[in-house]
Amino acid sequence: MMMNAAITGWGKCMPPAVLTNADLSTFLETDDEWIVSRTGMHERRVSHVPAIEMATVAAARALACAGLAAGDVDLIVYGSCSNDEQVPNSASGVQVRLGAAHAASMDINTACTSFLYGVSSAAAMIRTGAVRNAVVIGVELISPYMDWSNRGVAVLFGDGCAAVVLQATDEPFGLLGEKLGCYAESRQALRVRGMGCTYANRGLTLGDTQWDFDGQEIFKRAVHGMGEAAAEVMKKCGVQASDVDLVVPHQANLRIIEAVVKRIHVPLDKVMLTVQRYGNMSAATVPVALVEALETGRVTPGSLLLMPAFGAGLTLCAHLIRWGQRVTPLGTTDIDLPPCTETALDMVNRIRQVKASAVERSGAALMAPTLAETLGSR
Ligand SMILES: CC(C)(COP(=O)(O)OP(=O)(O)OC[C@H]1O[C@@H](n2cnc3c(N)ncnc32)[C@H](O)[C@@H]1OP(=O)(O)O)[C@@H](O)C(=O)NCCC(=O)NCCS
Repeated sequence: MMMNAAITGWGKCMPPAVLTNADLSTFLETDDEWIVSRTGMHERRVSHVPAIEMATVAAARALACAGLAAGDVDLIVYGSCSNDEQVPNSASGVQVRLGAAHAASMDINTACTSFLYGVSSAAAMIRTGAVRNAVVIGVELISPYMDWSNRGVAVLFGDGCAAVVLQATDEPFGLLGEKLGCYAESRQALRVRGMGCTYANRGLTLGDTQWDFDGQEIFKRAVHGMGEAAAEVMKKCGVQASDVDLVVPHQANLRIIEAVVKRIHVPLDKVMLTVQRYGNMSAATVPVALVEALETGRVTPGSLLLMPAFGAGLTLCAHLIRWGQRVTPLGTTDIDLPPCTETALDMVNRIRQVKASAVERSGAALMAPTLAETLGSR
């Protein structure tokens, strides 16, 4: 009999410092009215700790929720595009902090879809019998890599993290199916130059990220891609839109979500929304929304969940999950982040100052066009 992969634990770790639209308008030519009307966003979070620290707290909470010990974990999947290092991977950093001595650890980067691609990878390994207990993390620490002088992107993103435990089960629930894809011909619509290590020795430093961002192209592709992926996975699994109890979508823009659910004929009151409070947390968006749906009683025993997402690449996907019986945690943990002593605006202003002095020191900004020419537009 085919083994299923079910979510049996969940936990989030949201950094406490809140960056409001008013904070952004202290250093950008923008205002609350523009941001709310174009995106639905009112505020987002800025982390005072490294991404691996957020991921460790979220993973520990998810394990406690599932009633598992760190030693029970066979696999850790770390979904993110904001890793500080490529080598060693970030999943191993979570593994050593958790003390998950028997786990394998891997990173997945498909940008905003990384968590869901991670769910697919872990579920596939559970189905082959390679692993039984997996922790899948969606985490993003974008604030240090943001170009805070670019109002077209700086208002859109936030930091955050959540994790789930996926376990092997013979019961008929868990991940029913997924559609994965990528509009690679539009990959140039979202490129962050200087994020990650590709640019080492090429004149750009990590203090000097530049965002190539075609918002309207991404908007159109997102509505099309999420809508198509959602329709395809429903068809594949023999499910109607009216069977879906809750949509837990990626949240890059409230208007994108509204257009997607209209396209697939699901009413907005069946959608879990966090975009107003957290902005776009890339890979962390879907798992944080899922955890909050559980915390607020919006996932009930046997619920059918639809999770469409898209991200840089432009990667896209949609997952269907049949929830099991348990919607409450088996246990909790005391693990938490250290207290945050700065405001979000103070942290952002410090990042802006560090970048300004790094650019001045290296002349990196002047080299950016040369790099773009070298790499070409795709
Ligand atoms: C980015 C996005 C919100 C822009 O919304 P839009 O309605 O397309 O707005 P436009 O790009 O047409 O910009 C309209 C005007 O607002 C200005 N503008 C851009 N950002 C602004 C800001 N933060 N505050 C004020 N004005 C802003 C632009 O300069 C432009 O001015 P102009 O008409 O004088 O040139 C929208 O395109 C979007 O959500 N895209 C997808 C999101 C995404 O890519 N997420 C990441 C991938 S997961």
